[in-house]
Amino acid sequence: MNKKIINTLNVDLKERSYPIYIGEGLLCESGLFKRHIEGQQVMVVTNETIAPLYLDTCLDALDGFQRESVVLPDGEQYKTLEILTKIFDALLEKRFDRFATVVALGGGVIGDMAGFAAACYQRGVPFIQVPTTLLSQVDSSVGGKTAVNHPLGKNMIGAFYQPRCVVADTQTLDSLPDRELSAGLAEVIKYGLIRDESFFLWLEQNIDTLLARDATALAYAIERSCINKAEIVAADEKEQGVRALLNLGHTFGHAIEAGVGYGKWLHGEAVAAGTVMAAEMSCQLGWLEEASVVRITTLLRRARLPINGPPELSAAQYLEFMAVDKKVIAGKLRLVLLEKIGKALITSDFSPKVLERVIDAACAR
Ligand code: NAD
Ligand code: GLY
Repeated sequence: MNKKIINTLNVDLKERSYPIYIGEGLLCESGLFKRHIEGQQVMVVTNETIAPLYLDTCLDALDGFQRESVVLPDGEQYKTLEILTKIFDALLEKRFDRFATVVALGGGVIGDMAGFAAACYQRGVPFIQVPTTLLSQVDSSVGGKTAVNHPLGKNMIGAFYQPRCVVADTQTLDSLPDRELSAGLAEVIKYGLIRDESFFLWLEQNIDTLLARDATALAYAIERSCINKAEIVAADEKEQGVRALLNLGHTFGHAIEAGVGYGKWLHGEAVAAGTVMAAEMSCQLGWLEEASVVRITTLLRRARLPINGPPELSAAQYLEFMAVDKKVIAGKLRLVLLEKIGKALITSDFSPKVLERVIDAACAR
C-alpha cells in the first residue's frame, strides 16, 4: 500500500503547541487522530451537507472510542448561541465526561462552533479541527479563534481555545463547490498582501491553476498559508498586536455579512470586497500605489470574487456595523490597511471623511 504524504507544520505555543497535518486522504488516517485523543469518548460535530460525504469515514477513523455525532443545520445563519446548544445537548445526553474530545468536521462555521462548544463544555474539553473547506484549511482551523455570531456583530461571542491538532485532508476539497473554493482564495490572497509579497506574485502566476483545482498548487497554497498563519499566531496568540493584520478587509467584510444578513454573502466574498475597500483607502491616504490597487483588484476578480460591496447596503449601515468591530478601542475604529503589497499596518490614524468617501464610492459602484 502507498504511504500517504503528510506535511506537518507546527503551531508553536509552548504547552499548547500543536501540529497541522496536511495531505490527501488524511481523514482515513486513524493513527493521526488517536495520538491526540486522551479519553474514551469522541463527539464529531458536523453539518447536514458534510455528514453524508465524510461522517462515516471520520467515524471509522475513530474506531475504538465511544463515537457519537451531532449534525447541525448548514449555514452562517446557524452560527448562533441557539444552535450551539445542540452540541451541549448531545454531549450531556451521551454522558460525555471532561476527558471527551470534540472533533470539528467541516468548514469554518463548524470549526468555530465546535471549538467554542469545546471551550465551554465542563469548562473546556480537548478538540480536533478537521477542516473541509479551503477557507478553513488555510485559516479558520488554525489559531484557536472560536465564536458564534450575534445579530449586532459577527463572531462577537467566543473564546481563544486552541485545538490539539488540525487534520487537513486536501481530498475533501474535491466535493467543494467552486464558489466556496473562490471564497477560500480570498483568505489565501490575504497572506500575500499582509506579509508575503513573493506568495502574492506566485498567486498572480498560479490563480488559474488553483481554480482548476490542481492538487499540487492547492497543497502548496494551503501549506504556505498555514506557515504564515502559524507564525503570526505563535507571535501573538490573543491578538494584542500583529495578529490583527489577519483581519485585512474583515472590518468592511463583517459589516457586509451582518448588514445583508448572515449567509447571503460568503465570508470570503465579503472579505474580498472589503479588501478592495481597504486597498482603496490605503491609496487615498497616500500609502499604497494606485498600480497596486489595480493588481489587488485584478487578482481578486480573477479568483472569481466580488470586488464591490452589495448594492443594498448604505454607507450609514456599514459605519454602524463597523462601530462594533472587535478592533474598536474606546470607541475609536482601527483598520488594517496596506503600505504596499506584502506589508500591512493597523491604524486609527485616518480622517473619518476618507473612510466615508471610500464607502460611499463602494456603495455607488
Ligand atoms: P462554511 O463553514 O459555511 O462552509 C462553506 C459551505 O461548504 C457550507 O455549506 C458547508 O456545508 C460546505 N462544505 C464544507 N466542506 C465541504 C466539502 N468538503 N464539500 C462540499 N461542501 C462542503 O464556510 P467557510 O468558508 O469554511 O468558513 C467561514 C466561517 O469561518 C465564517 O463563519 C467565518 O467567520 C469563519 N472564520 C473563522 C476564522 C477563525 O480564525 N476562527 C477565520 C476565518 C473565517
Ligand atoms: N482569521 C483571523 C485570525 O485568526 O486572527
